[in-house]
Amino acid sequence: MTVERTRVAIVGAGPAGLLLSHLLAEAGIDSVVLDTRSRTDIESTIRAGILEQGTVELLDQIPGTRARTVGHRHDGIELRFAGEGHRIDFPGLVGRSVWLYPQHEVLTDLIAARLAAGQDLRFGATVTGVLETETELPRVTGVAADGTPFEFIADFVVGADGSRSVVRPTVTGSPSGGHFREYPFAWFGILCEAPPSADELIYSNSPEGFALISQRSETVQRMYFQCDPDTDVAAMSEAQLWDTLQARVPGTTLAEGPIFQRDVLRFRSFVAHELRRGRTALVGDAAHTVPPTGAKGMNLAIADVVLLARALEDWLGRGRTELIDAYADTALQRIWKAQHFSWWMTSMLHAAPGASEFDRQRQLGELRSVVESDAGRRYLAEAYTGWPLQTSPTAALG
Ligand code: PHB
Repeated sequence: MTVERTRVAIVGAGPAGLLLSHLLAEAGIDSVVLDTRSRTDIESTIRAGILEQGTVELLDQIPGTRARTVGHRHDGIELRFAGEGHRIDFPGLVGRSVWLYPQHEVLTDLIAARLAAGQDLRFGATVTGVLETETELPRVTGVAADGTPFEFIADFVVGADGSRSVVRPTVTGSPSGGHFREYPFAWFGILCEAPPSADELIYSNSPEGFALISQRSETVQRMYFQCDPDTDVAAMSEAQLWDTLQARVPGTTLAEGPIFQRDVLRFRSFVAHELRRGRTALVGDAAHTVPPTGAKGMNLAIADVVLLARALEDWLGRGRTELIDAYADTALQRIWKAQHFSWWMTSMLHAAPGASEFDRQRQLGELRSVVESDAGRRYLAEAYTGWPLQTSPTAALG
């Protein structure tokens, strides 16, 4: 068994864990990042695609990150319903934009940047527990890639290890420990080889159910349609998948091409009851999950990390506890706003199983209230492009 000392033990080499190690290093605080997955797994798993403007501005400060150069700026989205498309013009409404830059590319950039800076990243390192978190020196135990048991003695432990977090029970007292909401539908996602079908993302509410036409590059596209959570990914032929997608975006002829990946994404909203206990805290999906409709997941993780990095810098660097004591309450304000936005976009755009004609007409009334109102479109644009990042309970980074 190896026993090592670090200042901050970060569990999880996702966007949250990697960004946190960067911000801590800038403040002169050493950390180790532990992840059970291999580097190749992390860099090749297809996840979300949309970065808020604040996220891109933060990534811009890290050498070698390519969100702005390789990613694509999107100045709007289209909401489509009742056979009409309505553009939400982000710069016109709120002076901000979003960038389409897939999460695995963000991870590739961050891993390269952290390794170039000499960061201690351990892949294939499976954390099994966090001990003595209420003491001055919590410990993280696990098994390294070569099978050797390890222990890290740290000043602080961060659970950035996703929705099946191993660290979460230490903070909440139980594996689930939070507020939950399940949805009666999921998304069927495809990746295909085809040119883009539209300039911007289309969020379509159709009588058959929701569809999202997203993109990845000039030659690869990402699309989703609402399905039953128990759908078998292999059950439909390519022709059936295209028919389903086409029927849900009336008015657009999708450019079709070979489908080379399919997956079913279940929808759930989750917020942990507690985000910090003693010297352990949760960030990102370990602390909360949102349905993907609002494109908030990765951005929310980054907002947690900006707050926690500042709080740890103040506490471990200067002995001041105000920010760490305020971390959970401050982070939760944004988390619940993002929970609301994600739930709202989801409920406004999807066909709920068993919905009555009243429900359907009310939903169209809601969509019309948003697109025909300057205030409605502005709220959507504000939330989608991202509220200002905060570094403390009162200071917002415009
Ligand atoms: C994606 O491209 O994967 C994507 C885009 C927007 C969303 C969700 C997913 O709201």
